[in-house]
Amino acid sequence: MLKDKVAVVTGGGRGIGRAIVLALGREGIKVLINYRGKKESALETLEELKKLGGEGEIYQADVSVEEEVEKMFNFVIEKWGKLDILVNNAGITKDNLLIRMKSEEWDQVINTNLRGVFLCTKSALKIMLKQRSGRIINISSVVGLKGNIGQANYASAKAGIIGFTKAVAREVASRGITVNAIAPGFIKTEMTDVLSEEMKKKVLDEIPLGRFGDPEDVANAVKFLVSDEASYITGIVLNVDGGLAI
Ligand SMILES: NC(=O)c1ccc[n+]([C@@H]2O[C@H](COP(=O)([O-])OP(=O)(O)OC[C@H]3O[C@@H](n4cnc5c(N)ncnc54)[C@H](OP(=O)(O)O)[C@@H]3O)[C@@H](O)[C@H]2O)c1
Repeated sequence: MLKDKVAVVTGGGRGIGRAIVLALGREGIKVLINYRGKKESALETLEELKKLGGEGEIYQADVSVEEEVEKMFNFVIEKWGKLDILVNNAGITKDNLLIRMKSEEWDQVINTNLRGVFLCTKSALKIMLKQRSGRIINISSVVGLKGNIGQANYASAKAGIIGFTKAVAREVASRGITVNAIAPGFIKTEMTDVLSEEMKKKVLDEIPLGRFGDPEDVANAVKFLVSDEASYITGIVLNVDGGLAI
């Protein structure tokens, strides 16, 4: 039963994160919608969640900053007294060919996309280990599996998430906690909106199912991985990509 469980979704204010918040909300899960800068988007997501009859809060924190992350998880405990689900979804891109990539572009992407996952998971586990239950879902990417020109920083972070997922899945399995990753392909959000039409066409030609993904495609996979039906699944990478990684 998912009703009355408590979830944190990082970067839950827009894009894939918003679809995850709403999918969990529809199941009766209480959701903390984390955002970094776009409060308006987070408030819109909360409104939509409430329209569905769901319960939630918005919370500003940069996932790469340790103190902010710790305070966020303390807030969840003060508010709801437990934590059942963490979805590490927050992520950024700073694309550049490696030869031109500034060390700041490298650091920003690794800090948000990989260090952020480390910090949030560590804080969540402090709660989940005591509870002896929990579900952690890390949003990786097809780029972490295949690489991509101009994304050495992003590919490293997303591949790192896969190693992290498998290591932590082994560490916490005996305490009833599962840790899984999802590797989305090309999903229609602001992150992919910025790509040129030529680039989009090139990617589309490579997708066997012949369409880009919707945020809801990823949210459906999250919903499955947090369900009772997925209780025997841990340490996997679930591709949600229309076959792009084949
Ligand atoms: N779109 C795709 O095709 C695709 C494919 C594979 C994987 N992914 C992954 O899926 C996840 C969501 O992507 P998206 O397409 O929905 O991206 P998006 O529309 O650009 O949204 C990014 C989200 O991450 C949040 N965020 C960024 N930096 C943060 C930080 N330091 N602390 C807290 N939150 C932060 C943003 O918060 P604000 O709203 O406050 O800025 C926003 O909610 C990312 O991890 C991305 O790498 C996306």
